[in-house]
Amino acid sequence: VSSSESIRTAVRQVRTIADRLDVLINNAGVYPDEGLTVLTVPREQLAQTFQTNTFGPLEVTQAFLPHLRKSDGARLINVSSSYGQLGGLSAGRAKLLSVEAGAQRLGQDAGRSAAGGSHRRQLGRSGWVRTDMGGASATLSVEDGADTVVWLADEAPHDLTGKFFRNRREISW
Ligand SMILES: NC(=O)c1ccc[n+]([C@@H]2O[C@H](COP(=O)([O-])OP(=O)(O)OC[C@H]3O[C@@H](n4cnc5c(N)ncnc54)[C@H](OP(=O)(O)O)[C@@H]3O)[C@@H](O)[C@H]2O)c1
Repeated sequence: VSSSESIRTAVRQVRTIADRLDVLINNAGVYPDEGLTVLTVPREQLAQTFQTNTFGPLEVTQAFLPHLRKSDGARLINVSSSYGQLGGLSAGRAKLLSVEAGAQRLGQDAGRSAAGGSHRRQLGRSGWVRTDMGGASATLSVEDGADTVVWLADEAPHDLTGKFFRNRREISW
């Protein structure tokens, strides 16, 4: 998602198998934490992170928008993190918060701008999940971590739009 050419290739591939897109989940993300904080992260690394976590989901959304608009009830879901929750700011959580927060804001704005007719846009938070990113000590299995995102993609009421969710419940931005 950090390569425009790769995004264009994905759009072309989807076009060969479907004439519309019902669900777009922006899930790809990196977390180049490794002991860094927002006070020590090198600018280059910050830029790379923004390319994946912020500009990537935005460009993917832009690229697939024509296909989402062909669906009667398209859903756009951006996966995020509690590190992006401005309401939860504290010194201990400073980390690379700005990156996550930037992604969330752009995702939200993209969703709002893309809104039209029946298009839904929502933001899901997984919790601490035992993936490569979360590591073996994380509290949630992959299945439990994916639950809210799958619910948003499938069963969640259509009027839940422009919101942020954890454990199938709305949480603050
Ligand atoms: N795990 C957690 O506890 C946790 C907590 C909060 C938020 N999240 C969020 O949940 C989402 C999924 O994370 P995860 O735990 O599944 O992380 P993960 O195990 O590190 O997997 C990340 C996925 O993103 C893909 N990816 C990374 N950079 C990409 C790029 N430039 N283009 C396309 N794909 C790219 C990776 O693909 P490759 O394998 O091909 O590199 C991989 O499939 C992320 O947005 C993350 O920020 C996770």
